[in-house]
Amino acid sequence: MSQPFDAPTVIRTKRDGGVLSDAAIDWVIDGYTHGRIPDEQMSALLMAIFLRGMTGAETARWTAAMVGSGDRLDFSDLRRDGKPLALVDKHSTGGVGDKITIPLVPVVMACGGAVPQAAGRGLGHTGGTLDKLESIPGFSAEISTAQIRQQLCDLGAAIFAAGELAPADRKIYALRDVTATTESLPLIASSVMSKKIAEGAEALVLDTKVGSGAFLKTETESRQLARTMVDLGLEAGLVTRALLTDMSTPLGRTVGNAVEVQESLEVLAGGGPPDVVELTLALAKEMLDAAGIDGADPAETLRDGSAMDRFRGLVAAQGGDAAAKLPVGAHIETVTAPRNGTMGHIDAMAVGLAVWRLGAGRAVPGERVQPGAGLRIHRRPGEPVAAGETLFTLYTETRERFAGALSELDGAWAVVDAAPPPQPLIIDRIT
Ligand code: URA
Repeated sequence: MSQPFDAPTVIRTKRDGGVLSDAAIDWVIDGYTHGRIPDEQMSALLMAIFLRGMTGAETARWTAAMVGSGDRLDFSDLRRDGKPLALVDKHSTGGVGDKITIPLVPVVMACGGAVPQAAGRGLGHTGGTLDKLESIPGFSAEISTAQIRQQLCDLGAAIFAAGELAPADRKIYALRDVTATTESLPLIASSVMSKKIAEGAEALVLDTKVGSGAFLKTETESRQLARTMVDLGLEAGLVTRALLTDMSTPLGRTVGNAVEVQESLEVLAGGGPPDVVELTLALAKEMLDAAGIDGADPAETLRDGSAMDRFRGLVAAQGGDAAAKLPVGAHIETVTAPRNGTMGHIDAMAVGLAVWRLGAGRAVPGERVQPGAGLRIHRRPGEPVAAGETLFTLYTETRERFAGALSELDGAWAVVDAAPPPQPLIIDRIT
């Protein structure tokens, strides 16, 4: 049978600003998923999409084709105490120091939600929940659908690698990561929503990042991304809403893999940085509302230890030991304050790149990340600084990586005379 399409023609159509037909999109996604279209042709098409964009209809079809590339989970038959589960999830468009899923999932579990969370690995300068959680000794995200179902009923959550959900996204995501095609509205929207539509949640809250550490930098672009994703979710029958949140400076005081788990444990123990707590609670409230759960107080679950108990149970169910010592990079470097003053702005993008250079992220698909690679921020914007004190501590397994990381940090922060005006963390809500 002759092929209805050929890759060079599809690439040329998009390269020249044309619109891809539904059939062409279905052909590309199916062909790439099954290895008939090679990486070099898909890379060229992704770059054409990056440069030319996609219409709303193309994005919707691309998303649907990615959902259709694999299994779609359905947990609507599951019951707890004879009642259907309140299936709700959250996804972030990617940030720096964005460990929120780690404390958030147990908070929502403790409030009565059930979270089927298909999580991702690091992408570009941003970290991934799976890479972070896998720094916990023994933790595995490669769990079967039977185990996900069991955990949802018994515990109220499972955090898993997307596996056979939207396998087209798994391949495209990895290719985008190494071809500089990540920062594209239709590619982000379709990537996020294909996994989330396939994973079996019934309600979804999107944390759409704005600022230097986000893939889309401006508020206008991020708003448009949030709108596109919310509409894709609603069309697929999911109760969907989004928060627009600031990502011009890293979240919390840690960026990396195990260091972010450590900070999440502090939040679950009732402490932790105020911005991480604020965003965790705001997203928890949205998730509970979207799932129709009334009367629960997310903040109380951090105070009374119930969220921590849920976290320990979840980690144990997936083979990990939440009490085990977390890995720390064997080599340590510090950056000290040149003078007295106040910490000014810390640029999230530069910090994300520094941590990526320390070994927390990948430069080629499938590369092993260093669980102990990361960075600690000792002084956040607005905090007083004394000359000579440590401002940043960097960790890696590979000493040679410090030079690149330090040069990323160069010019990314400054000690100033007057504190910068505080930025609101939660910018808007989109429904
Ligand atoms: N998260 C995803 O799942 N995909 C993207 O493209 C960006 C963030």
